[in-house]
Amino acid sequence: MNVLVVGSGGREHAIIWALKRSPLLSRVYCAPGNAGIASIAECVPFQVNQFEELTQFAIDQAVDLVVIGPEDPLCAGIVDHIEARGLKVFGPNGKAAIIEGSKVFTKQLLRDYSIPTAAYESFDRYEDALAYLQGHATPIVIKADGLAAGKGVIIAQTVAEAEEALKQIMVDKVFGDNGQQVVIEEFLSGQEMSILSFVDGETVRPMMPSQDHKQIFDGDKGPNTGGMGTYSPVPHIPQAMIDEAIETIIKPTAAAMVKEGRPFRGVLFAGLMMTANGPKTIEFNARFGDPETQVVLSLLDSDLLEVFLAVVEGRLAECELRWSSDAAVCVVMASPGYPGSYPKALPIQGLDEVQQAVVFHAGSALKDGQVVTNGGRVLGVTARGANIAEARKLAYADVERIRFEGAQYRTDIAAKALV
Ligand code: AMP
Ligand code: GLY
Repeated sequence: MNVLVVGSGGREHAIIWALKRSPLLSRVYCAPGNAGIASIAECVPFQVNQFEELTQFAIDQAVDLVVIGPEDPLCAGIVDHIEARGLKVFGPNGKAAIIEGSKVFTKQLLRDYSIPTAAYESFDRYEDALAYLQGHATPIVIKADGLAAGKGVIIAQTVAEAEEALKQIMVDKVFGDNGQQVVIEEFLSGQEMSILSFVDGETVRPMMPSQDHKQIFDGDKGPNTGGMGTYSPVPHIPQAMIDEAIETIIKPTAAAMVKEGRPFRGVLFAGLMMTANGPKTIEFNARFGDPETQVVLSLLDSDLLEVFLAVVEGRLAECELRWSSDAAVCVVMASPGYPGSYPKALPIQGLDEVQQAVVFHAGSALKDGQVVTNGGRVLGVTARGANIAEARKLAYADVERIRFEGAQYRTDIAAKALV
């Protein structure tokens, strides 16, 4: 089979790396890809929003399956576009991707179906949102409705901070039209974790749980990023709580989407808070997480291409996933200045000295034969071991072999899992 993967990050590198193990695979293309992906796939220079060009390429190259990585094209209906031309696509259509694209939609869905989540109200008028803050405890969480590249969530410690956030979103419109509506919700405390699941309408096949590290600095300090590192599984969270999240949140949500006439097909990413009152939903994403994918697919023993096909063809109920009993840790190496502005084209040294880890490229390019930095998050150094401690040791040993000017990485990825 010929496969086209759409995207250019560490997630797409990990997807292609896993697909390459499938005996069903003949050729794999990636649009647009990066320098790391180019070492295992044929990269083609289409951007993720060039729906027509991507579709035509897939037809011309006899592509049997298109796999969509990022949320922007999913929410903009790339799956509808490609399916309309008779091709198979892995990913939710626009009607289902709204579960990531609109926080107002998702909070209403969870409320309608009594699925556990933070208490909330949504607002389209600034004055009403301001008035709601009075009489509610802080910290309180303000969320812009639409996609905001992970920046649309503000945890306000005081009413003044909450008022400022509402002004920025609803009056100054720092997120553009995505700020026309806001959700104001209760602050949840507890351990955060992610469960990604393959979903084909009603059938849900959860993957191994994982935990991300969102802040840039050790000890969860500093501004939020796209994710600085992950590990899987999450041994300090009891299996009973993970099972409860699957039974009370993920399966009911898939069933609710079917009832709403929006059956979800693809990867449903549940961001969860394990609170003293049980698991609660923080958010859903309509795709694989980045860098969750790097660790989770490192542990998948099943043939990923077969799983993709089972989802697309509505046969997931026949498909059981097999997992390694190992653990995996991914440490992200980021550009100096990230998540603020950062330089590009810094030469990366030491990639050929790596011993145990798989280095998934997130933002890299080739310049005159040299691999250089080309994004905020640059590499996801991912190692497997018999347990988290061993995987962590192997990942960090290889991080130290890789060098670029001003490289930033956290030194405490997965440390929480060791205590
Ligand atoms: P999101 O962009 O929705 O993933 O939110 C970004 C981060 O904000 C999440 O990963 C959580 O750490 C945090 N967050 C979002 N909603 C809440 C909440 N209701 N209570 C506590 N933390 C939250
Ligand atoms: N790592 C978080 C995400 O992919 O949204």
